[in-house]
Amino acid sequence: MAEPSPEERKKAPTEAGPALPGDSALQQPKSIIQLMENYSKIERAQMGIPGMDDLVAGGLPRGSLVLLSGACGTGKTTFAMQFLYQGAQMGEPGVFISLEEQPETIMRNASLFGLDFYDLIRKKMFAIRYFELYDFDKLKNNLDEIIDEMKARRVVIASSSILGLFFEDKYKFRKALLELGKAFRQRNITSLLISEVPEGSETLSTFGVEEFAADGVITLHYAKVGNVFMRSLSIRKMRDTIHSMKIHPLQITAHGIYVYPTEEIF
Ligand SMILES: Nc1ncnc2c1ncn2[C@@H]1O[C@H](COP(=O)(O)OP(=O)(O)OP(=O)(O)O)[C@@H](O)[C@H]1O
Ligand SMILES: [Mg+2]
Repeated sequence: MAEPSPEERKKAPTEAGPALPGDSALQQPKSIIQLMENYSKIERAQMGIPGMDDLVAGGLPRGSLVLLSGACGTGKTTFAMQFLYQGAQMGEPGVFISLEEQPETIMRNASLFGLDFYDLIRKKMFAIRYFELYDFDKLKNNLDEIIDEMKARRVVIASSSILGLFFEDKYKFRKALLELGKAFRQRNITSLLISEVPEGSETLSTFGVEEFAADGVITLHYAKVGNVFMRSLSIRKMRDTIHSMKIHPLQITAHGIYVYPTEEIF
């Protein structure tokens, strides 16, 4: 087809006529500023990791279920504990569901970063439960109970690697995760689902289905750059918000995890 002439180009908008009510063009954001305003209306849950909220326009969209994936020792548990601690500081009770590690170990490790979860338990701002259940419905009932009791606004489940074992096949697991995500969204609970991935693997989750059911995916990396290992983080997806597409350096220090939003990994 021939290119339209400059005259034809000028005519085109008027010939198409003005947009009518109900026309999808009217519902589309008109400019980048309007787009930013729309995103800014979304309620955010600040993560409690310095630098992290800057990567997602101010925090995780509330009510979303976010997969936090990474190989061993990449900082998944520390990240999740900082997220819950931040919530508690803001008056949002949090619940940690552990299917593997003992609560005492998790809390003791967190205390090494200066996060006093024992105090939060006393203040009824935090609860941690270890379940040795291989039945999703039972787990869900227990989870509902503790969420109601605590009036929880944040939940962490560790980990999808164990949760997935409850199901005969990965499609049933995916369906259950979708239901879980829906239940959290209805209650405006922001949640993290920890997922372990094999060292050096490019996969986003243990079973390869979690990332589709989740609203967002944050991946923690540990990679060799030159002759040193560097920690980094990226956001693979995050529904309802704009987010950084870069790989950002991350550090674990005696005070926990820091993310460097303006620096890049070379
Ligand atoms: N004080 C500290 N300073 C620097 N790095 C630390 C400090 N304490 C712990 N780390 C690092 O944090 C890592 C553990 O982080 P974390 O337990 O959150 O990772 P994880 O991804 O949950 O690990 P796992 O796969 O074992 O569950 C340790 O392997 C260590 O490298
Ligand atoms: Mg861990």
